[in-house]
Amino acid sequence: MSDVEIRQASTDDIPAMNAIYNRYIVGSHVSFDTEPWTDAQRLSWFQRRVSAGYPVLVACRDGTVIGASWSGPWRDKAAYRSTAETTVVLAPEAFGEGVGTTRYAALLEALRAARFHVAIGIVALPNDASVALHKKLGYREVGTLEGVGLKDGLRHSTMILEAQLDVVDPPEV
Ligand SMILES: CC(C)(COP(=O)(O)OP(=O)(O)OC[C@H]1O[C@@H](n2cnc3c(N)ncnc32)[C@H](O)[C@@H]1OP(=O)(O)O)[C@@H](O)C(=O)NCCC(=O)NCCS
Repeated sequence: MSDVEIRQASTDDIPAMNAIYNRYIVGSHVSFDTEPWTDAQRLSWFQRRVSAGYPVLVACRDGTVIGASWSGPWRDKAAYRSTAETTVVLAPEAFGEGVGTTRYAALLEALRAARFHVAIGIVALPNDASVALHKKLGYREVGTLEGVGLKDGLRHSTMILEAQLDVVDPPEV
């Protein structure tokens, strides 16, 4: 992995983040969205996430965004406030170099620093790389929801994985 910078995302990164994520919406089961996001939708999403205290990170190489990892609410009931759902996406050109590992580890660190205590990953199956990445970073497999996603005429199951972040006090979010 050569010279990859990981930093907090800014509004300037929205088009690049959108371009990477939208590749996993069209023609892929990785995202259960069915329509690509516009930059305006992604900007509104970004502002809500950041103002609610959820870390959103990007990875850059030579000044170009090559991936993103972000967190968001697990469920909207108040008692879930120190639990976050986590996501990571990478441009295919950067697969298999350890960038996913570094970026997801940085996201977990940011969540710990923000005093979240549980991270939950939801992986649409099959996705061996994502399952391997989650387990490498200490997530444990909780179980599989069978056939919950219908995309492009096929039913897809999702694996739920959770990581305990070893934090006692909940965050003020
Ligand atoms: C999942 C993803 C982020 C992994 O990023 P990456 O940088 O390629 O992964 P890394 O190089 O850091 O490898 C992480 C682990 O996964 C394993 N792995 C990577 N690709 C794999 C594959 N195709 N099959 C099985 N394991 C794989 C690696 O071997 C490594 O484990 P190890 O260190 O024990 O050998 C990347 O493939 C991606 O963006 N995929 C498309 C979007 C996606 O699926 N996001 C997850 C949504 S839940």
